[in-house]
Amino acid sequence: MKLNGKVALVTGAARGIGAGIAKALCREGASVLVCDLLEQEGLETVKELTELGGRAWFYKLDVTSETNWKAAYTYVLEKTGRLDILVNNAGISIRQNIEEMTVENLDTMLAVNVKGPFLGIKHALPLLKKVGGGSIVNIASICGLVGHLYTSEAYTTTKGAVVQLTKSVATRHAKYNVRCNAVAPSTVLTGLTEKFLEDPQRRAERLGEVPLGRLATIEDVAEAVLFLVSPQGAFINGVILPVDGGLTAY
Ligand SMILES: NC(=O)c1ccc[n+]([C@@H]2O[C@H](COP(=O)([O-])OP(=O)(O)OC[C@H]3O[C@@H](n4cnc5c(N)ncnc54)[C@H](O)[C@@H]3O)[C@@H](O)[C@H]2O)c1
Repeated sequence: MKLNGKVALVTGAARGIGAGIAKALCREGASVLVCDLLEQEGLETVKELTELGGRAWFYKLDVTSETNWKAAYTYVLEKTGRLDILVNNAGISIRQNIEEMTVENLDTMLAVNVKGPFLGIKHALPLLKKVGGGSIVNIASICGLVGHLYTSEAYTTTKGAVVQLTKSVATRHAKYNVRCNAVAPSTVLTGLTEKFLEDPQRRAERLGEVPLGRLATIEDVAEAVLFLVSPQGAFINGVILPVDGGLTAY
């Protein structure tokens, strides 16, 4: 197993892509702190991981709260004594065009999608440095790479910020053997997208833009994250890896 003895914290891991990432990390031997606002779903995810033979715990973390982040790291240290991997996956999308976007909704998206990863990294760095290095993966989006036609300006703005946060941490902390990369998925069928994908026209738009002609799966994204944090990805740093069937190759 690639991640034996490693300890990971994954945000937004109660469901969707985050749960898939937690599952992949556990499968490869990592102990995983499943963090989310959703307690019931989080506990169910942990149960599933444990039944599969993994080592996992749930922690109720609101990524927008610095106090919560500090408490989550205290908890992970109590449980395992170390941190090797941080996956900043929690994210939201409020679908409003720029002309309609309220300041409250903009602030909420910035808080979850940008402040969240920023604070997570801020408080992870001392722990990663203490164990001689580690790996951070941020879940960005193709929207962080292109001006996506079907996505709100606000979401795109937040994911662009995640891309630059990734590159900045990658260059400034590499000397401590801390790597920081991002994964940039195209549309994945999850709780975030299931409602609008019920609309046949929107579904067709999303399928039509992908050269490989399908939506990304949770597993597509989880395996990319696994690669980046595993020894096989040891020299990969500061990369924004599209998992998009070729969408951003246009
Ligand atoms: N689904 C897609 O098409 C797609 C494409 C590209 C990128 N992404 C990104 O992937 C990530 C995961 O998305 P998903 O599709 O699995 O969505 P999801 O809604 O299924 O899961 C997101 C999880 O984050 C949690 N969360 C939300 N706010 C939080 C907070 N303040 N603190 C802690 N947890 C919080 C939610 O409770 C939820 O469990 C997001 O960052 C999203 O922007 C998704």
